[in-house]
Amino acid sequence: MFPLQGAQMLQVLEKSLIKSLPASLKVYGTVFHINHGNPFKLKALVDKWPDFNTVVIRPQEQDMTDDLDHYTNTYQVYTKDPQEAQESLGSPEVINWKQHFQIQSSQSSLNEVIQNLAATKSYQVKHSENFLYMGSQTAKKLAPSLLDAKKLSLHDGKPKAINQDMFQLSSLDVTQATFVNKFWYFGGNERSQRFIERCIRSFLSFCLLGPEGTLVSWTLMDQTGEMRVAGTLPEYRSQGLVSYVIYKQALAMDKLGFPVYSHVDKSNKAMQRMSHTLHHIPMPCNWNQWHCTPL
Ligand SMILES: CC(C)(COP(=O)(O)OP(=O)(O)OC[C@H]1O[C@@H](n2cnc3c(N)ncnc32)[C@H](O)[C@@H]1OP(=O)(O)O)[C@@H](O)C(=O)NCCC(=O)NCCS
Repeated sequence: MFPLQGAQMLQVLEKSLIKSLPASLKVYGTVFHINHGNPFKLKALVDKWPDFNTVVIRPQEQDMTDDLDHYTNTYQVYTKDPQEAQESLGSPEVINWKQHFQIQSSQSSLNEVIQNLAATKSYQVKHSENFLYMGSQTAKKLAPSLLDAKKLSLHDGKPKAINQDMFQLSSLDVTQATFVNKFWYFGGNERSQRFIERCIRSFLSFCLLGPEGTLVSWTLMDQTGEMRVAGTLPEYRSQGLVSYVIYKQALAMDKLGFPVYSHVDKSNKAMQRMSHTLHHIPMPCNWNQWHCTPL
């Protein structure tokens, strides 16, 4: 595989990925933000050009200095042919098979390929497969056939009103990363905290501050442009706070022309209800993450 050089090729790639939505969503979102400032300094590799079969997005080698930091050492993959992608993903020039890393994709069909590669490379894999949602305005713009097929609303759903006297809408500050990290299902360690800090510094975030000015509910964006790491303090739950924060974040992203999407754990009923209330569209494909660790 080889890196795409120059703004023009990357714009062609972004446009081309739209044709493969929603299977390409995770890679599309990442390429969109590469083309809008590239704050995570990522690069896009393709196996052929312009008729690529596989795209892999990854950090620059010089940014992958910690072999144990799978949050930084993350690859996003989209392929038109998973079997053919196996050779590309096995190459040490594409994926550094000496490190701990993650692969993310909206294609569950990559599971077999990744499990095969992991077996030959002596890696252990933890696969998370969650529901994937797209904001209704994003779906309307990029994948209208999804709305037609499901006869879904073209309008955003609104959250119920919150107590405006008690809570103040704000954006996250990097010093709040410690707190956010404690509640993140995939986090809770020093490396995940550094990742959250970088996301807060690089992208939009929204939060609600409580009566004492402390953080009570929040959401942020990761390098793939996905809304992630949302949470509400236990004593403030079931008051519609996360629904409100995510609604505000999605509105702001729509206004900037950013794609809006997110994933929800299959067992997380609260976030599924919230997605339904806000008219986020369930995708026919899932969100996947493979956390790969050398044995
Ligand atoms: C999931 C979480 C963010 C919800 O926050 P919240 O502020 O309580 O959410 P809301 O009050 O906006 O509720 C959203 C919907 O879920 C429902 N709900 C809230 N808690 C629920 C629960 N434990 N079980 C089922 N439904 C629940 C609400 O009634 C609401 O539905 P409705 O609008 O139809 O009434 C919060 O429980 C949390 O921080 N959990 C741990 C971290 C997490 O799972 N984060 C999300 C994934 S990264």
